[in-house]
Amino acid sequence: MSIQWYPGHMAKAKREMIEKLKMIDVVIEIADARVPYSSRNPLIEELSGQKPRLMILNKADLADPEMTKKWQAWIEQDGTKTLVIDAQHGKGMKQIPEAVREAAEVLLNRWERKGIRPRALRTLIVGIPNSGKSTVINKLAGKKIAVIGDKPGVTKKQQWIKVGKEMELLDTPGILWPKFEEEAVGYRLALTGGVKEDIFDFQDSAVFLIQYLSRVYPELLKQRYDLNSIPEDMTAFFEAVGRRRGILAKGGSIDVDKTAEMIFRDFRQGSFGRITLEEPPHPKRDDGTT
Ligand code: G4P
Repeated sequence: MSIQWYPGHMAKAKREMIEKLKMIDVVIEIADARVPYSSRNPLIEELSGQKPRLMILNKADLADPEMTKKWQAWIEQDGTKTLVIDAQHGKGMKQIPEAVREAAEVLLNRWERKGIRPRALRTLIVGIPNSGKSTVINKLAGKKIAVIGDKPGVTKKQQWIKVGKEMELLDTPGILWPKFEEEAVGYRLALTGGVKEDIFDFQDSAVFLIQYLSRVYPELLKQRYDLNSIPEDMTAFFEAVGRRRGILAKGGSIDVDKTAEMIFRDFRQGSFGRITLEEPPHPKRDDGTT
């Protein structure tokens, strides 16, 4: 479960990440395919510097496949190697060692030029809580690894896991905190489990979700709640859905809080279908801005 982050936690998590990165050839960053922007902490780019990076979009089973393709193309614009996986069901996992090798091509070429005998590439999984780091590590290890170190401030002896002949993986992930600055990012993370669900009022998160779904996935929204059309006014929307589901307060009016919580949980359970909660920005310009 997501933890609450305080400045002390962040400083410690950053220090731990810096220590781990010293041992690493390739950084494997894991993001949630439903929120490829919101589930990344840009600090990793700064901390990993020139090290090769493989970007994994996990939980692809829950995301909109068309949107995942768009995101993948967007991320790859600057040459970052990406891989789309569903770690829970083991899909795409076999491609990880090869993708790591591809991401490290420049490094491998450098070793060759310098006459350094190639060794297994040392990798580290990094990401914000709940992105699926432990699931990926356990699947790659082929057994359940104790996740005792998967909290900032809790350390355990680190070990390398051999993944095939050409890759080694540190058995404790690097954890970074989620982004907090933008409100929309917060809602997306609450909906997808990247931050504690009670950080926000259910009503605010539900309104954010409904407005997004009305614009991008209106059919899925109508289907879920058996609506002929989507009321534009939020009060009318809650009224329609609450009444349909019989979520009533005393006196026969609908219970708005409970209706909001139901909508929130419907999303958490994947009841709307495969949904991506953010669209890729416009193509990057030459100077890297969007
Ligand atoms: P973390 O180490 O990065 O914190 O994440 P972890 O592997 O613990 O995964 C978080 C939750 O996400 C787990 O659910 C896990 O099963 C699920 N998960 C990981 N990868 C995938 C995926 O590709 N697809 C789907 N659908 N789920 C995935 P959990 O243990 O049930 O936790 P929770 O649901 O109670 O938060």
